[in-house]
Amino acid sequence: MAYQGFASGDPERDAKAIRIFLDDGHLIGCAQSFAKNMGLYGQRAGCLSILCDNEMEAVAVKSQLQQLGRPMYSNPPVHGALIVSTILGDLELKKLWLQEVKGMADRIIGMRTALRENLEKLGSPLSWEHITNQIGMFCYSGMSPEQVDRLTNEYHIYMTRNGRISMAGVTTENVGYLANALHEVTK
Ligand SMILES: Cc1ncc(COP(=O)(O)O)c(C=O)c1O
Repeated sequence: MAYQGFASGDPERDAKAIRIFLDDGHLIGCAQSFAKNMGLYGQRAGCLSILCDNEMEAVAVKSQLQQLGRPMYSNPPVHGALIVSTILGDLELKKLWLQEVKGMADRIIGMRTALRENLEKLGSPLSWEHITNQIGMFCYSGMSPEQVDRLTNEYHIYMTRNGRISMAGVTTENVGYLANALHEVTK
């Protein structure tokens, strides 16, 4: 889970898939990242959880992970992890963090609506429903690689060549410019 909370605004709700696997009786492994939902890019803050059947299995899995970790990075950086544990371990800080995650998710959802509305206002005959139907930080805009190249070369708008836009980069300031460019390259 690299973006927990960014889909619905509620990290509990976004964890539903994990709970379904658990309810179905699977022994799961879960890799969580706190890079996005705690703004800790570059601090390598995350959590790997592996559910085991019994204590003996847990001891074996742990020693295997330790053997992998030792040659890979030896000791992980502790700063980001301490920030995460301080926030999650304090009721007031956790409440504040949950509010801020919701603020980020709602902002992204708002930008999706604004982008779609701007395109429709420009008179684009194409359907832009997918922008608001999708959830999370990324938007698969439907641009072809050639259209992405035009956006880059003519409008200095950058995205992966499969048309994936990071909605985190869309703001009230630039959404009109982005909509206009999308409209121009899809005419
Ligand atoms: C799907 C997905 N998984 C994992 C990561 C990486 O997370 P981390 O930087 O915590 O390793 C990213 C983005 O950086 C991602 O998009």
